[in-house]
Amino acid sequence: MKLSAEAFAPTNIALTKYWGKRGLENNLPATSSISYSLDKFGSQTKVVFDASFEEDAFFLNDKKQIDLKKQKRVLNELRKIARVDLFARIESKNNFPTNAGLASSASGLAALTLASAKALEIDLSLERLSSISRLGSGSSCRSFYSGYVEWVAGEKEDDSIATPLATKNEFPLSSFIFVVSADEKHKSSTDAMESTRLTSPYYSAWLSQAKKDFALARRAILTKDFESLSRVAQHNCAAMHACAMSAFPPIVYWKTETIRIINAVFHLQQEGHRVFFTVDAGPNVVCFFDPSEEQFLTDRLSKLARSIGGVNELC
Ligand code: PMV
Repeated sequence: MKLSAEAFAPTNIALTKYWGKRGLENNLPATSSISYSLDKFGSQTKVVFDASFEEDAFFLNDKKQIDLKKQKRVLNELRKIARVDLFARIESKNNFPTNAGLASSASGLAALTLASAKALEIDLSLERLSSISRLGSGSSCRSFYSGYVEWVAGEKEDDSIATPLATKNEFPLSSFIFVVSADEKHKSSTDAMESTRLTSPYYSAWLSQAKKDFALARRAILTKDFESLSRVAQHNCAAMHACAMSAFPPIVYWKTETIRIINAVFHLQQEGHRVFFTVDAGPNVVCFFDPSEEQFLTDRLSKLARSIGGVNELC
């Protein structure tokens, strides 16, 4: 027996962050979060289940991977539902440069879940598939949709769900990514979140700010209020990193270049431009801006990337 299928899923950038878990095993988040999908960057994944395979295998950009922990969580759950015990061969390719420093686990796990469900002919809602994908990588549950996606923290086992909040046509954003470093994260986000939860003196303050930020960002998106979204996204990003920095030992993702870019964005804002920054678990800065300023801001941000040196751009 041979079952096979392919799927694509986009990567997503958090506008208000998931940082901290209330359930470690199932990646249940302590904070609700909102993301914006970057539709042109993502993972194309092919999955084959075959009775002749003796183990699961995972190839990322043609390179055999040793660590399949996240992928197995998704595969095992889907095999249980489909009542099959076939091993799988996963071939995943990112359509953005691998050395771009963009987290590929969100798009990769989402594409894997979609392709595997198709191959095993499992008929589940997108919502349910997104929750299965969450078992492999938390933020991947937001990669099932285009545009703005909200992922509510919930309180129980089955009520932490990601759903579309608004389409990109309703409130479009342009993006520009500063690739400060393409190196692997020195600490996994799971370890970093746990360390923050257990040791940061500011963790409970972060949780209450995250709750307020989620509500503010949600309202800003629904009312297409760029200024408010810009303010809350930046504040939320800074608070998440400040909380991580206050863990013991400190978790510092930012590099000198990260801070230079952030200061340059503040400068552009003082000049009246509609642009804001955010930073996920790494040193790379993602700028979002009003598409009406596309040409001017892409130009300015590109010049900035070149002037810093060692910083690549992706837009
Ligand atoms: O889902 P993970 O384990 O890759 O963690 C994502 C953490 C952040 O990117 C920093 C925030 C987020 O909401 O995506």
